[in-house]
Amino acid sequence: HFLQSAATLMIGLMLAACSKQEPPAPAASAPAPAAAPAPAAKVYVVGTDAAYAPFESQNEKGDIVGFDIEVVKAVAQKAGMEVKFLNTPWEGIFNSVAQGDRDLLVSAITITSERKQTLDFSEPYFDAQQLIAVKKDSKISTFNDLKKLKVGVQNGTTGDEVVAKLQGKESANIKRFESTPLALKELEAGGVDAVVADNGVVVNYVNNNSESKFKTVSDSSFATEQYGIAVKKGNAELLQKINKGLADVRADGTYKQIYTKYFGAAPVAAAPAA
Ligand code: ARG
Repeated sequence: HFLQSAATLMIGLMLAACSKQEPPAPAASAPAPAAAPAPAAKVYVVGTDAAYAPFESQNEKGDIVGFDIEVVKAVAQKAGMEVKFLNTPWEGIFNSVAQGDRDLLVSAITITSERKQTLDFSEPYFDAQQLIAVKKDSKISTFNDLKKLKVGVQNGTTGDEVVAKLQGKESANIKRFESTPLALKELEAGGVDAVVADNGVVVNYVNNNSESKFKTVSDSSFATEQYGIAVKKGNAELLQKINKGLADVRADGTYKQIYTKYFGAAPVAAAPAA
């Protein structure tokens, strides 16, 4: 008796739980005629740290815009995926995909072997390099000049990594910021002697903030980095869709068009590996 009623109770609870999660489908969405649009498709949530113009930033209206955004939108269109972009702080961005809060990430993310241990990356979609920003009157002319100087970086980026390698990870002269624009503001305020970040972002900032009186310093010791779109480790199905979409937007000229819109000239073919 007891067992029976316990079982009945459990079934009842399970049914209640189920009905809470899945309200009965409205009658209107019952078997759709062939011509009707497909039932609401999955919306893929894309995480991006939208403080990284021209790759991702928020415009006056609050929309997330930029090169990365247009590339992912074009890829999604090819792949028949619906996407939604969510501003996601860089700190914790990798966790957000690991935990399933985001399905994919586009955030000018450099593909590194360390990151590959916890995430899967698409084929590379952009080549980048570190670049140094300094005040116009600065004497700094090489990366090595930064050895004993105060340098601003965005915490946990590849810019952070190269400076940590130069000065030592624990160096008190590395000033780590939540975002790259904050590091650049600190340079303007005189709190750091230089900022090291991705070339596209540094160039964009210097060009659009002439009142900051910055110039750029490049250094041949900086390796070429490649950006990739990240998914949760093991999500081969999504990765394949993205890679197929990337190949499609490259093949039909869409990628080139977006690239030219943001960077002026069409991308040059990747140089053969040295
Ligand atoms: N490419 C650099 C890295 O992967 C910086 C990326 C920062 N991206 C951003 N949206 N804040 O570490």
